[in-house]
Amino acid sequence: MNKIAQGAEAIIYKDGNEIIKERLSKSYRLKHLDDSLRQFRTRREAKVLGKLEEFNFPAPHLKEFSDKRMSIVMDFVPGEKLKDVLQRGDEYQQFAKDMGAMIGRMHTKNIIHGDLTTSNMIVHSKTNKLHFIDFGLAQFSERDEDKAVDLFLLERSLASTHFKQPTLFEDAMKAYKISNPEATEVLKRLEKVRMRGRNKGK
Ligand SMILES: Nc1ncnc2c1ncn2[C@@H]1O[C@H](COP(=O)(O)OP(=O)(O)O)[C@@H](O)[C@H]1O
Ligand SMILES: [Mg+2]
Repeated sequence: MNKIAQGAEAIIYKDGNEIIKERLSKSYRLKHLDDSLRQFRTRREAKVLGKLEEFNFPAPHLKEFSDKRMSIVMDFVPGEKLKDVLQRGDEYQQFAKDMGAMIGRMHTKNIIHGDLTTSNMIVHSKTNKLHFIDFGLAQFSERDEDKAVDLFLLERSLASTHFKQPTLFEDAMKAYKISNPEATEVLKRLEKVRMRGRNKGK
């Protein structure tokens, strides 16, 4: 078993074709709040992965989860992070399209990712298709507002990470409109969210 990543919230181990994601305890949080938060996120991530699989959404297959270890076991998705692929400047139009189409599908099923960045998307080494990971902040919601905020965070993250491809978000939204029948409402809402973002701190 090898440790392959350690983020702010979790340690990721790889064991053969399996990924084990273990949520770390945070010493600055009160013990029982910390436990319940980690438990909540672990369960949420497992639940969302299960739901995604029901409609064949490209995300890791969930194998098991444990409340005690605060861990989930899922399939390893072979490939590179979209972030690294895009920073090399490869075929970005196709990935923008794929990204938008996938997010549209997810939103149509009322799943909000909660942390849409190109580090949480893997380009599958066999199919070249995008797979989404990291659903610990995901939620189920029908609200345009929640979907718009999901897109807003993506827009901001793309602008800071992929400033050399400034049309990425716009291109992704073209595909989003095709795959989500309610895209018009969500994108209208996005304009409000952007205004709010701009007024903040003034
Ligand atoms: N199922 C998976 N298949 C392949 N790599 C994964 C998988 N899950 C996580 N990783 C790798 O581990 C990193 C961190 O996992 P992630 O779920 O995004 O946790 P964090 O909350 O720390 O960002 C990812 O960026 C990716 O490189
Ligand atoms: Mg992540």
